[in-house]
Amino acid sequence: MATVLITGANRGLGLEFCTQYVKAGWNVIACCRQPEQSTALVALAENYSNLRIEALDVADFGQIDALSQKLSTTAIDVLINNAGVYGDNSTIHFGQLDYQAWSNTLLINTQAPVKMAEAFLNQLKAGNSKLIVNISSLMGSMTDNTSGGSLLYRSSKAALNAVMKSLSIALKQQAIGVLIFHPGWAKTDMGGPNALINADESVSGMRQVIDKFSLDQSGCFIKYDGTIMPW
Ligand SMILES: NC(=O)c1ccc[n+]([C@@H]2O[C@H](COP(=O)([O-])OP(=O)(O)OC[C@H]3O[C@@H](n4cnc5c(N)ncnc54)[C@H](OP(=O)(O)O)[C@@H]3O)[C@@H](O)[C@H]2O)c1
Repeated sequence: MATVLITGANRGLGLEFCTQYVKAGWNVIACCRQPEQSTALVALAENYSNLRIEALDVADFGQIDALSQKLSTTAIDVLINNAGVYGDNSTIHFGQLDYQAWSNTLLINTQAPVKMAEAFLNQLKAGNSKLIVNISSLMGSMTDNTSGGSLLYRSSKAALNAVMKSLSIALKQQAIGVLIFHPGWAKTDMGGPNALINADESVSGMRQVIDKFSLDQSGCFIKYDGTIMPW
């Protein structure tokens, strides 16, 4: 059975990915910052032996390297870079920006997915699907940006899109694919209660796109329902 590694697996879209993949019989490596406090994930692991939980703060690259070392003989079919932060603060605007918060947002949303891809490249090569999935956002789109704002978040997701597009080209020779998703506006802690879709609809849509993935789609920016998104 296929293996998926998911970051930010304790709540929101990450937890939904874990739930759906584990029920589908996949081996799920669920990574989260504080496993002991991740009650929903722990409860899931009690019912499904195909779920293992690993501690991982993606902002700590030493932890990423250590986990890669621990899993050095584990083939991984799909790596899902899901962990993310919004970063922006509605009370802090241009003129008084928090540059430390911006660096932290770039670290988690942009650099960490690249570091994960670097650290787990050998495990991906050993897998069958060989796919790096990135949960980006339509807010990273230039074309869609007509309302402005969210400087930290928008820039971090635009940079994620740019770097993953480049990686898709570099990794194609090794038959490793890269997908960049807009998961839709989904009801999670980040999406809020007014979001348009539930997490299960978002994740089941993305899973269908992942299932049907072929290398010629690598580097595409795709909505959860399969629609191509504008850069
Ligand atoms: N929901 C939406 O409408 C929407 C729309 C577009 C894009 N997205 C993207 O979808 C992804 C998932 O978002 P969500 O809606 O599920 O958000 P969420 O409910 O706020 O969950 C965010 C997840 O990321 C984890 N995380 C944050 N910083 C981390 C770090 N340094 N190391 C490890 N994990 C970390 C959180 O863990 P902790 O519990 O430890 O904080 C949590 O599990 C994000 O990349 C987000 O940008 C969401």
